[in-house]
Amino acid sequence: MMMELAKTAVLVKTMVEAVKIPVTAKMRLGWDDDNITAPDLARELEQAGASAIFVHGRTREQGFTGIVNLDGIRAVVKAVKTIPIIGNGDVTTPEAARKMLEQTGCAGVSIGRGAFYNPWIFLHTHHYLRTGELMPEPSFAQRVQVMCRHLDLMVEVFGEEHGCRMFRKVAPWYAKRFGPANEFNKRVVRVSSRPEFLEILENYRQWREQFLDEAGELKPRFQPQPLVASFMQEPGVTQREHIPVPKGPVEVW
Ligand SMILES: Cc1cc2nc3c(=O)[nH]c(=O)nc-3n(C[C@H](O)[C@H](O)[C@H](O)COP(=O)(O)O)c2cc1C
Repeated sequence: MMMELAKTAVLVKTMVEAVKIPVTAKMRLGWDDDNITAPDLARELEQAGASAIFVHGRTREQGFTGIVNLDGIRAVVKAVKTIPIIGNGDVTTPEAARKMLEQTGCAGVSIGRGAFYNPWIFLHTHHYLRTGELMPEPSFAQRVQVMCRHLDLMVEVFGEEHGCRMFRKVAPWYAKRFGPANEFNKRVVRVSSRPEFLEILENYRQWREQFLDEAGELKPRFQPQPLVASFMQEPGVTQREHIPVPKGPVEVW
C-alpha cells in the first residue's frame, strides 16, 4: 500500500464515506530507503478524509532494527495541512517522548512495546511533559501488584483457563523489569490457573531474595539496564537493550 498511493487513497476514501466514525491511518516511513513514500501518502490520505495519521519512523525494509528516523517523521508532519500526525517507534521513556515531539513537531506519540514492560509510561510521560520532572521508577512490589491486577482482569474477561494461557505471554513482559527472573519465566509460561500463578510468584519471591541487599533492593549488578530509545543513543554508542518482537515475518503477526 505504501507503493501504490493512489489505490490506497481510494481505499481510505471509500472507508471514510462508508462509516460515521473518524478513520485514521497507520504507516511506516516507506518501503525502503529509496522509497520514502510516507509524506506523499499522508498528503493523499488527508485529501481522502483521514482524520489523523500514525507514523512508525522506520521503513518496511528496516523491520524493527536501526534507528527511528525523526527527520522522516518530521517530513510527514510538514506534508499535511491540518490533520494531526502521531509519531511512533521506540518511545520507551518520557525523555524519548519529548525528543520525538520536539524534533518532529508531531501532535502526539504512540507507545507500543514501551508499555509492555512499563505500563506506567503514560503517567510518567504525561507528568514529565507537564513539569519536566521524572517520576521514580515503580518498585518491585508495585509492579507485582499491577501484574496481579492485570491477570485478574484477564481472568474476568476471558475466564480462568484462557485468561491464564494468554497471561503466559504477558507475565514475562513485567518480569523484564524484575531483575533476574529466569526462575519465574520458566514456570509462568506454563501457568494454567490463578492459584498456580500465585504459587509461582511466591516461589519466585523467595528465589529472588538472593539478589537483594539488606534494604530489600536489588543489588546494583542485578538491576535491569535502562531501556534507551534508538534515537536517544549518544553518538558512538551502539549497544542497547533489544526490544524483542514476535518471531517470523511481520506479515503473520
Ligand atoms: C506484537 C506486536 C503487534 C503489532 N501489531 C500491529 C498492528 O496490528 N498494526 C499496526 O499498525 N502495528 C502493529 N505493530 C507495530 C506497532 O504499532 C508499532 O508501530 C511498533 O511496535 C513500533 O512502536 P514501539 O517501538 O512503540 O513498539 C505491532 C507491534 C508488535 C510488537
